[in-house]
Amino acid sequence: MFKDSGCIACHNGEAVRGATFQKLGLVEPYKSTSSGEGRSAVTGKDIDRFNFKVPTLRNVELTYPYFHDGAANTLAESVTIMDRLQLGRKFSPDENARIVAFLKTLTGDQPSFTLPILPPSADSTPRPTPFAKN
Ligand code: HEC
Repeated sequence: MFKDSGCIACHNGEAVRGATFQKLGLVEPYKSTSSGEGRSAVTGKDIDRFNFKVPTLRNVELTYPYFHDGAANTLAESVTIMDRLQLGRKFSPDENARIVAFLKTLTGDQPSFTLPILPPSADSTPRPTPFAKN
């Protein structure tokens, strides 16, 4: 169902994500309390408004709340939003539950890594320069 519904157009490959930025609210606009700047905050282009990196769906069960503004608290809610806004469909409660069940199969071990320990900074240590906008 995940494949047949078209989710894989954006979420695909080993990490079930896209290597792309996609508009959130393709079919219907996304209603948000956020400014919806998205990628346009970096590119300065109006066309990139509401464009976001397609996130991986691996371990998505563990990474609530969902979307850039954390507006969806549950997987069921986020699937309803994706389904309607990205694909212009309306899953039945049973279909929604089946997609959520599939998403839960993507839960595995969380990656773990050791943080590097840096030497203490001194007055002469160069400070990071702010990220320059293009
Ligand atoms: C046109 C591209 C596109 C399609 C099709 C699409 N998605 Fe998404 N999906 C996105 C983008 C972009 C985001 C990130 C939005 C944001 O950060 O606000 C996202 C976010 C999500 C999230 C939240 C992930 C998180 O960590 O916040 C879930 C769950 C999800 N999609 C599931 C689905 C499912 C299920 C389908 C099929 C019904 C689907 N998507 C179809 C582009 C798409």
